Amino acid sequence: MGKGDRALRASGVTVRFAGLTALEDIELSVRPGEILGLIGPNGAGKTTLTNVLTGFQRHAGTVAVDGQDVTGWSPQRLSRFGVRRTFQNVRLFAGMTVAQNLEAAALGVGLGRAAAHRSSLDLLERFDLTELAGVEATALPYGLERRLGIARALVGEPRYVVLDEPAAGLNEEESDELLTRLRAVPAESGCGLVVIEHDMRLIMRLCDRLHVIDHGRSLAAGAPADVRADPAVIEAYLGSEAAGETVTHHG
Ligand SMILES: Nc1ncnc2c1ncn2[C@@H]1O[C@H](COP(=O)(O)OP(=O)(O)O)[C@@H](O)[C@H]1O
Ligand SMILES: [Mg+2]
Repeated sequence: MGKGDRALRASGVTVRFAGLTALEDIELSVRPGEILGLIGPNGAGKTTLTNVLTGFQRHAGTVAVDGQDVTGWSPQRLSRFGVRRTFQNVRLFAGMTVAQNLEAAALGVGLGRAAAHRSSLDLLERFDLTELAGVEATALPYGLERRLGIARALVGEPRYVVLDEPAAGLNEEESDELLTRLRAVPAESGCGLVVIEHDMRLIMRLCDRLHVIDHGRSLAAGAPADVRADPAVIEAYLGSEAAGETVTHHG
């Protein structure tokens, strides 16, 4: 891992919970501007890997960001360094407007007042939330609440963002909208994305590359079409009929 290694990279990552190996010797990387899909059955270890990449979970092995070893860094330090996440369940700041949610997140990652305000305005526009800037965030309908949750992770132009099931509970139209918005993120800012999702319709169109895990181990990685056609992936996750559809495991 040299300083020139521009990637968010997990190497030899292992996580054990009492009696259970949640992740075993995982190698995963995403480059600036790349969208990596992380898929696998319920309980495969996807959220645990998200926690590892963003400082929420102790582990064996290393995590590096653009050549900097960040193993053991706190979530806050990592988020200031430019590695962010969203949660499976949106956690908006209650009692604040949409704009205030964005500004508070920007202040939280170390931006000054003026920069936080500018970042908030920029994201309101990029995520079509400008007209809702003054609305209490927790009063938003579900789809917009999720959209704001993603916008909030992007304040201050992070290097990498891990999105844990961003399309969960969205209808087809909302999911398509999300696809367009997420597709624009690397183009606008060079940010690298890791997207965990069961919606294969979304994943196949969104991602540059897929990484499949099953029972905490890497099962396959590569171009979406190759991964979808991989017999081991079909057996463990997709099922012979399911390619191209939402895979109905949740968790
Ligand atoms: N804090 C924890 N303590 C014990 N076991 C856990 C903990 N978090 C997750 N697990 C277990 O680790 C495995 C992977 O879980 P998770 O990463 O949530 O999977 P996924 O997100 O792919 O559904 C599961 O068997 C889960 O029950
Ligand atoms: Mg999960």
